[in-house]
Amino acid sequence: MQRGIKPLWDLPTRLCHWLIVCCLLLSWWSGESQNYGIHQWLGYTVIVLVISRIAWGLCGSRHSRFTDFVVGPAKVLAYIKGQGGDSAGHNPLGGWSVLALLLLLLTQAVSGLFNSDDVLFFGPLYYAVNSGFRDAMGLVHEIVFNVLIALVFLHIIAVLYHQLHLKEKLLQAMFRGSAPGREGTATPVSWWWAVVVVITVALGLWWGLAQAPPPVSMVW
Ligand code: HEM
Ligand code: HEM
Repeated sequence: MQRGIKPLWDLPTRLCHWLIVCCLLLSWWSGESQNYGIHQWLGYTVIVLVISRIAWGLCGSRHSRFTDFVVGPAKVLAYIKGQGGDSAGHNPLGGWSVLALLLLLLTQAVSGLFNSDDVLFFGPLYYAVNSGFRDAMGLVHEIVFNVLIALVFLHIIAVLYHQLHLKEKLLQAMFRGSAPGREGTATPVSWWWAVVVVITVALGLWWGLAQAPPPVSMVW
């Protein structure tokens, strides 16, 4: 990035995005190929990344904050009709899709914690709940995945439409932080704060999962 130009997407936001992309692809593969050892660690990583991104949406750099891109229905409708929406960051419709993607990712990963393949792998919270709740979470894990993949598909189509048809440099900005026409308007928050957020969330998850009841012994 050139000196003096402020990033639209700070380093933590970009790293978080591309790490989520990698984890989602790898958890898809590991779920389908029944590599649950790897699958669960990818899932924990997604939980830490998404909760950290939500925290960054409250205390991070200006354009990563929810207040910068989550707007009311009137503004979304106006944007769809072609009025407004020329803000620096996510457009009004994109803002809601960001929220939906983050919430679906979190639901997918959290539902996995209660899941089991009914043979060898039992999620860390499997024994913390009754069988009705486990079944419901199993169903959520299956259904939400399909919804998530559909939304990711729409997300990629939308990005490509803006990139190739409207000639906006979205991809360059998501890789490099900024690009001509996609520049930030505020000095970013130091990335050290993001490190503090990620470590706090990871420790919180580790502590939470350590409170889970141990497996019920099948041997009497
Ligand atoms: C595979 C799963 C993917 C997920 C779950 C995902 C999710 C997201 C999320 C949550 C954001 C908001 C970023 C933030 O504010 O933190 C975002 C933005 C973005 N994503 Fe993805 N993404 C995925 C794949 C991709 C791919 C494959 C591309 C490249 C074609 C891409 C390009 C972008 C771009 C350019 C933005 C910034 C959009 C803007 O400028 O408003 N994403 N994505
Ligand atoms: C974003 C994170 C995650 C994604 C995208 C994901 C995706 C998937 C997919 C695609 C499958 C295959 C479904 C099928 O066989 O039809 C699956 C199965 C499974 N996942 Fe996940 N998963 C995630 C997180 C987790 C986590 C954190 C755990 C547990 C710690 C977990 C536990 C399981 C189990 C036990 C199965 C097998 C279910 C069965 O046999 O019915 N998943 N997951």
